Amino acid sequence: MPLEKVGVAGCGLMGSGIAQVAAQSGCEVIVREVSAPLVEKGLQSIEKNLARQVEKGTLQAADRHKIRARLKGTTNLEDFKDRDIVIEAIIEQLPAKKEFYSALDKICPKHTIFASNTSSIPITEMATSTTRPDRFIGMHFFNPVPVMKLVEIIRTIATDPKVFEEAVALGTRFGKTVVRTTDRSGFIVNRLLVPYLLDAVRALEEGVASVEDIDNSMKLGCGHPMGPLTLLDFVGLDTTYYISQIMFDEFKEKRFASPPLLKRMVLAGWNGRKAGRGFYDYSDPAKPKALDLR
Ligand code: 3HC
Repeated sequence: MPLEKVGVAGCGLMGSGIAQVAAQSGCEVIVREVSAPLVEKGLQSIEKNLARQVEKGTLQAADRHKIRARLKGTTNLEDFKDRDIVIEAIIEQLPAKKEFYSALDKICPKHTIFASNTSSIPITEMATSTTRPDRFIGMHFFNPVPVMKLVEIIRTIATDPKVFEEAVALGTRFGKTVVRTTDRSGFIVNRLLVPYLLDAVRALEEGVASVEDIDNSMKLGCGHPMGPLTLLDFVGLDTTYYISQIMFDEFKEKRFASPPLLKRMVLAGWNGRKAGRGFYDYSDPAKPKALDLR
């Protein structure tokens, strides 16, 4: 049976994007946040994205309303009691995730698959707070979810192969290219991306070049859509810092260690675009201004 009833936990940047692509693929979606204003904010960002697609002519107005009708917001975890799969995109902290899964496990029927959008926390560790490690997988999306074409599907040593294939089919139905991977912190993308981003901060710290010249080098020299420091601001410096800590803890390798400058910026609250300041100042969001951090 295909997975039709989808729950999405968390309606921030990632959760709202996942809910949107799930509803666009025809699934019936309930998205849950911890407070009514957060539910409202998440649903509004989805509506804005759909409206932009209609304006551009990539989505019919009638389809927009059908997609919206398939999306329901809630603050009540109990509303996940009839879901075929719950995709979790809550805060990237293990204690919060474990508490969430332990509560969810008591609400959902036996057949419900649990999928985490974690970027680096071991899937196996989250699965231990449930009675269903065989129905637990990772489904890692990329920001902005409606645009980025990839999803990593992660199996643990305990995942039932049939559950893994169901998740692969769902990722494909969402319009994504699926890559299959195992439960190692960072999976494929962040294993390669995080050391690269951290190296860009080290290069800045060592005075190799300015913020703009480092970004332009990778944009124009390698054809990346964003330079590494712009991408750090986009993903969030705090998020990248937490990911690097988890990956360093897993592998004990220097390439995953956070450079002091990154830690200082996170301590100062300069977390990137969402904070108005990171490697760039976003006082005028249309014209980010590179900062001199050397
Ligand atoms: N939500 C939905 N759609 C968005 C969007 C958003 N937040 N931002 C941009 N878009 C859409 C635009 O509407 C536009 O759509 P169109 O092609 O139909 O017109 C398209 O994306 C391109 O947008 P723009 O023309 O405004 O801007 P760009 O061409 O500069 O593209 C970008 C923006 C897609 C974000 C591009 O710069 C890019 O690909 N950047 C790299 C992003 C990346 O690497 N993401 C992965 C981060 S790592 C991660 O998420 C993993 C985690 O674990 C850390």
